[in-house]
Amino acid sequence: MAFRGPECYVDMEDLARARGVPPEKFTQGIGQRQMAVVTPCEDTVTMATLAGREALDAFDIDPDEIGTLIVGTETGVDHSKPVAVYVHELLGLPATCRTFETKHACYGAMAGLTSASDWILAGRARGRKALIIASDIARYGVGTPGEPTQGAGAVAMVVSSKPRLFAFDTSIEGDYTRQVMDFWRPLYSKYAFADGHYSIQCYLDALEACWEDAVRTAGGSHEAFALSELDACFYHVPFSSMAKKAHHRHWEVELGRRVERDAPESGEIATSYRRLVEPWLSLNAVVGNIYTGSLFLCMVDYLRRISSEREGRPVSLFSYGSGCGAALSVAHVSDGASAFKEAVDPGEHLSGRRRLGIEEYEQITRAAESADQNEAGEADPSRWGLAGNLYYVGTVDHQRRYAHLG
Ligand code: HMG
Repeated sequence: MAFRGPECYVDMEDLARARGVPPEKFTQGIGQRQMAVVTPCEDTVTMATLAGREALDAFDIDPDEIGTLIVGTETGVDHSKPVAVYVHELLGLPATCRTFETKHACYGAMAGLTSASDWILAGRARGRKALIIASDIARYGVGTPGEPTQGAGAVAMVVSSKPRLFAFDTSIEGDYTRQVMDFWRPLYSKYAFADGHYSIQCYLDALEACWEDAVRTAGGSHEAFALSELDACFYHVPFSSMAKKAHHRHWEVELGRRVERDAPESGEIATSYRRLVEPWLSLNAVVGNIYTGSLFLCMVDYLRRISSEREGRPVSLFSYGSGCGAALSVAHVSDGASAFKEAVDPGEHLSGRRRLGIEEYEQITRAAESADQNEAGEADPSRWGLAGNLYYVGTVDHQRRYAHLG
C-alpha cells in the first residue's frame, strides 16, 4: 500500500477565519486539521501514478508482475478514456495487463479490490498480481457547507495470493445498494452537489444494512467480527467525525437497539471508538476526503503504527459510496506486516507540503475550473511553485498531456 497526494494544503483554522466560522466547528465538529489542495497540474492520473510507483518501489514489485490494473475514481479525466490507461503507460506496466476504471462514488475502489480478489480466486491471475488505485479530488466549491470536507489523494494497493499486509476473509461480506440522491456530480459540473445531512443518514443506514448482510453470510452470527474481537474498525471517512458517528451506529447495531449520545452506554462506545477507530484517523485529518481512498488511508495509518502483536488480528472495513453502494468486509493482519511500517509511512511526503494562504487557494480553485479546456494555459507547473516531477501540462489538440520534469 502507498499514499500520495498533492503538494499543497490549506490549514482549517485559516479557512474557518476566512469564512467567518469558529475554527472549532472545522477542527472539532468536522474533525479536520488540514485539507489537501490540487493545483491545475495535479490530477487523478498524476496522483494515482505517484502512489502506484511508490507501492511498487516500497514493496520491491516488478511492474511486469502486474496482470490487472484498476483505478477506482469518481474524478475521471475523460468520459471515455479511463484514468487507468494513462497510469498504465506512466508506470510502464505490461501490454498484457488488463486495465480499467471503476466508478461508484467512494465505493469505486472497494469494487475494484473485490474484483481483483475474485480474479485471483478464480485462477485467472496465473501467479500475477493486481494493482488497485483509489484516486480522487473532492471539490464542493468555495463557501459551500462541503468546503471544509474537500481533499485530494490516491492510495495504491497491490493484491496477490500471498498478502503481506492484510488477508481478506471471503466468507464474510455484507453488501448494500439503494438509489438515493444524497451526493452526486452531474456531467456539467466540476463540483459535487450534496444533501449533506441526508447523506450522513444514508451512510449510517447502509452500514446497518451491510452489517445485517454480513451476519447472514457468516452463517447467522457476528461472532467472527464482534467489536470486542476486532483490532481496528476502518470506515469510509469523508471527514473525521463521520467515523465517530459510524462507530456509534456499528455499536448500536451489534447491541440491537439505539443508544442516545448522553446515555450511560455512550461512555462504553466512546472507549471502544478510542481503541478501534480514532488512532487511525490522523492521516485523514490532514488530507481531507479523498473519496475512493479515504477508507484505505485509515489502513495506511494503522500500518505505519503497527507492532508485531497485532499480526493475525481481525479488522473490519466499511466502504460507502453515495448514490449509494456499500460493503462491509473483514480482513486479518498478515504475519510479518509490521516489517513494512516504514515502507508505508507517507509522513515525509506530507511534511514536505506547502501551506497555501486562502487567497492563493481560491485562485488555484478558479484556475482548476478551466484547466481541462483545450489550450487553456492554466496547467503550467512553473506558475504554481511546484517541486515534483510528474504533472498534467495541459490539453493540446484535445489530448491530455503529461510530462516528467527535471
Ligand atoms: P454543516 O451543516 O455546515 O455543519 O455541514 P453542521 O452544522 O452539521 O456542523 C458540523 C458539526 O460541527 C456538528 O457536529 C456540529 O454540532 C459541530 P455533530 O452534531 O454532527 O456531531 N459544530 C461545532 N463543534 C464545535 N464548535 C463549534 C461548532 N459548530 C458546529 N463552534 C456537512 C456539515 C457534513 C453536512 C457538510 O460538510 C457537507 O455537506 N459535507 C459533504 C457531504 C458529506 O461529507 N457527507 C458524508 C456522508 S456521505 C459520504 O461519506 C460519501 C461522500 O464521501 C461522497 C462519495 O461517496 O463519493 C461524501
